[in-house]
Amino acid sequence: MRIFVYPGSFDPVTNGHLDIIERAAKICDKLIVAVLINRNKSPVFTVEERVSFLKEVLDGKPNIEIATFSGLLVDFMKKKGANTIIKGLRAVSDFEYEFQMALLNKNLDENIETLFMMTGINYSYLSSSAVRELASHRGNIRDLVPDIIIERIYKKYEENRG
Ligand code: PNS
Repeated sequence: MRIFVYPGSFDPVTNGHLDIIERAAKICDKLIVAVLINRNKSPVFTVEERVSFLKEVLDGKPNIEIATFSGLLVDFMKKKGANTIIKGLRAVSDFEYEFQMALLNKNLDENIETLFMMTGINYSYLSSSAVRELASHRGNIRDLVPDIIIERIYKKYEENRG
């Protein structure tokens, strides 16, 4: 069985992530969306919120599993019986970081392969950090994230403002 792992912070999930998830799920038997429980990089959304956004959006997709992990990605993959990491590539600016991660992961476990999928043309400018920046100022995030999570994203910033 061909199992792909799509790792990330998903803080929050964007339409760019979803594009990669949907396309990747078509070329493997099972896609595990692996949400990093960030310990040092403090995310805006809790891991429970990040997972629940993904679950809401991906509800009913048969070969997609949503999981969380901490520690090394390669260790998580071993536990799941997976050897392929799928990553999205937007612009040249992503390349250096992704290249380093792919080589480090390969160095940790030579059985691990990293596959890169080009982002959809509409999403090349999109990132979770841009969504956070816009949402924190109540900027328009429609078309950047799934409709069903928009209000929950704004709500988070209102709560944070107290
Ligand atoms: O969405 P992000 O924050 O760019 O995702 C980064 C992620 C989760 C893919 C990366 O930070 C990761 O794999 N972290 C786990 C620790 C690890 O295995 N690092 C790679 C070897 S240094």
